[in-house]
Amino acid sequence: MNHDATTAAVPVDSTVPTPSQGASALPARALGPLRVPAIGFGAMVLSPGMYGEVDEPRGVRALRAAIDAGSTLIDTSDGYGQDGHNERLVGRAIAGRREDVVVATKFGFRMLPGAEPHRFSVGFTFGELAVNADPRYVRAYAEQSLRELGTDYIDLYYPHFPDPRIPIEETVGAVADLVDAGLVRSIGLSNATAEHLRAAHAVHPIAAVQTEWSMWRPIDPELLRAGRELGVGFVAWSPLGGGFLTGSVTRIDDGDFRRNAPRFSDENLAVNNDRFAPIRSTAHELGLTPGQLALAWLLAQDPAVVPIPGSRTPAHILENVDAARTPLHPDTLGRLTTVLAGISAAGATLL
Ligand SMILES: NC(=O)c1ccc[n+]([C@@H]2O[C@H](COP(=O)([O-])OP(=O)(O)OC[C@H]3O[C@@H](n4cnc5c(N)ncnc54)[C@H](OP(=O)(O)O)[C@@H]3O)[C@@H](O)[C@H]2O)c1
Repeated sequence: MNHDATTAAVPVDSTVPTPSQGASALPARALGPLRVPAIGFGAMVLSPGMYGEVDEPRGVRALRAAIDAGSTLIDTSDGYGQDGHNERLVGRAIAGRREDVVVATKFGFRMLPGAEPHRFSVGFTFGELAVNADPRYVRAYAEQSLRELGTDYIDLYYPHFPDPRIPIEETVGAVADLVDAGLVRSIGLSNATAEHLRAAHAVHPIAAVQTEWSMWRPIDPELLRAGRELGVGFVAWSPLGGGFLTGSVTRIDDGDFRRNAPRFSDENLAVNNDRFAPIRSTAHELGLTPGQLALAWLLAQDPAVVPIPGSRTPAHILENVDAARTPLHPDTLGRLTTVLAGISAAGATLL
């Protein structure tokens, strides 16, 4: 690789072993008490109806490729795919190697019998989402996920969204009971505000907040400040901007959920590909792919950020994981900061 690397820019606390023989260990990071690889794997892409074609064998192959490459933080949710599809897929892929993997899942989308959906607007074409994170259902959610995953503990358990009708303290209090019962190791929050984080952390230590964060979607500065103050890790979802930052997306087909985001309309994609051309050029100069540059940039934003790119394709997964071994020179980071400050993406994202 022809990049201007230093070892100083991306702090790591150690490495995590890579299960596949011969591969070198990945740098490790801390999410609260959890030690995880610097780049995890987002499994959402492996359920039909999200991003284009995928079937069960392809999904299991992708998950095993990620784990073999050391990307052993696996992110799923009860809401990905139909009726627990994604958690079952993860369960199949981790069977026999549970101890190699940090399993993170989320609850509140897959309604339990009797649970009333609490709707909230996320705007744009995506419209409304519905969750129920009532503390009365939290244990049953966890038991459902444990069954699907084929395991008896969840390493990191998040309410997928704060419930608009239930104070976050009540939801998190019920997850804390699962920690006491040994079903859950650590608690996370997903799509939460700084206010949610502070309130939840007062009930039980929060290991990580999961939020959209990438070169084309800055993190909320208040959330960043609160997480840093409280020692909470950041799990960055859509770290490749849903694939856009790899430079390979020029059109989204019907049936792909990204079509719901104005940022991915044909017109905005063309504009955005033009606007991000300088980032792609910088990647090429450094001997990196644009996606690797996007991930290496994210890793340099905070020592406690862990991106979770998703992919159906083993070659892409290996490429992504390699970004964890590619610290960027401070001069490069300075240049990227300047370039990114001059770019604003056209169109809103999903949330
Ligand atoms: N908490 C939440 O509400 C929330 C919301 C969204 C996502 N997430 C989590 O975050 C994870 C990642 O987010 P995401 O899937 O939305 O977006 P992403 O990781 O930014 O992008 C995924 C897309 O990028 C493509 N891709 C990945 N690596 C590539 C490479 N090296 N070269 C070319 N294309 C590449 C994939 O296609 P291929 O399959 O062809 O590689 C896929 O279409 C999800 O899986 C999920 O676990 C959480």
